[in-house]
Amino acid sequence: MAAAAATKVPATMRAVQYDACGGGAEGLKHVEVPVPSVKKNELLLKLEAASINPVDWKIQKGMLRPFLPRKLPFIPVTDVAGVVVDVGPGVNGFQAGDEVVAMLNSFYGGGLAEYAVASESLTVKRPPEVSAAEGAGLPIAAGTALQALRSIGAKFDGTGQPLNVLITAASGGVGLYAVQLAKLAGLHVTATCGARNVELLKSLGANEVLDYRTPEGASLQSPSGKKYDGVVHCTVGISWSTFEPVLAPTGRVIDITPNFAAILKSGLHKVTFAKKRLVPLLLSPNKADLEFLVELLKDRKMKTLIDSRFPLSEASKAWQKSIEGHATGKIIVEMEG
Ligand SMILES: NC(=O)c1ccc[n+]([C@@H]2O[C@H](COP(=O)([O-])OP(=O)(O)OC[C@H]3O[C@@H](n4cnc5c(N)ncnc54)[C@H](OP(=O)(O)O)[C@@H]3O)[C@@H](O)[C@H]2O)c1
Repeated sequence: MAAAAATKVPATMRAVQYDACGGGAEGLKHVEVPVPSVKKNELLLKLEAASINPVDWKIQKGMLRPFLPRKLPFIPVTDVAGVVVDVGPGVNGFQAGDEVVAMLNSFYGGGLAEYAVASESLTVKRPPEVSAAEGAGLPIAAGTALQALRSIGAKFDGTGQPLNVLITAASGGVGLYAVQLAKLAGLHVTATCGARNVELLKSLGANEVLDYRTPEGASLQSPSGKKYDGVVHCTVGISWSTFEPVLAPTGRVIDITPNFAAILKSGLHKVTFAKKRLVPLLLSPNKADLEFLVELLKDRKMKTLIDSRFPLSEASKAWQKSIEGHATGKIIVEMEG
């Protein structure tokens, strides 16, 4: 049985869900549903903010079938921040009143709601210096940026090499964290983005910025002629034949949006012991990384750049904004107000 809650939790809550795959923003419905209850090692959170990631609407589109969504109707979104209001048996590190950031279980979602259940293993405390909106931006986007950079050799303890990296779609949710993390790791950063975001990327420390709509940007060539030790590849539609000439002899392209051809190519590179490689990456969520990222926000070494904020009552506008693919940073849904 759950421990007594310090805050009175209502029986029902407002939530946004879809009943079928494929409906886009118009398929989202506002509903009143029971507040979920906690089981072993789980926390009940009163949510303050959630951030939308492209994977959320890709699941709705049916792109991850047959795995996700696990069942319908489905309350989407995993990346949240809020306050603990109840704890299940076995929870030791949290109590009611703790402010937290969490990544909800992808199979069950639950983030577009007033309350959600999080696992203790993917919840971290949020210090007062980190707002709910900033914290909610982190789990998938910053987690993926961190893991992609590590897989090309970035180190965050001052022991790494000053590698040359290219970050594609650097103005997006993942890319903006990747640029900041790469600079913290002492890397030389070339970034691609649209013309309107060139100055923003430079202000975050990108050494060279390419407008992806120009021929120079499309070629991915570093203006100073540097070859890339690694690429954090955050968009689609760039072929291996474009990457290959701009890579250093053992350069790696970490592809966070791999299609079937990319997976085949990466398999080929592996079996042929190719020196230059395409490597697909799927986020492996973990608490240590989330703690590290929250700490960076707290110390103001990194920031969450927020594209836009919407109240829960306008979640479909936030959803549509993400589908359109032109956000600069994170799209946040706020539960109150
Ligand atoms: N493998 C994983 O575990 C994992 C984890 C997280 C995300 N992802 C995937 O990674 C991708 C990026 O995610 P995100 O959250 O960063 O997306 P996002 O925030 O929606 O990205 C939007 C940004 O991408 C820019 N952009 C679009 N096409 C571009 C291009 N060809 N070159 C340069 N910039 C371009 C846009 O700039 P303009 O507005 O100027 O066009 C916009 O600022 C998504 O497909 C997502 O599903 C995968």
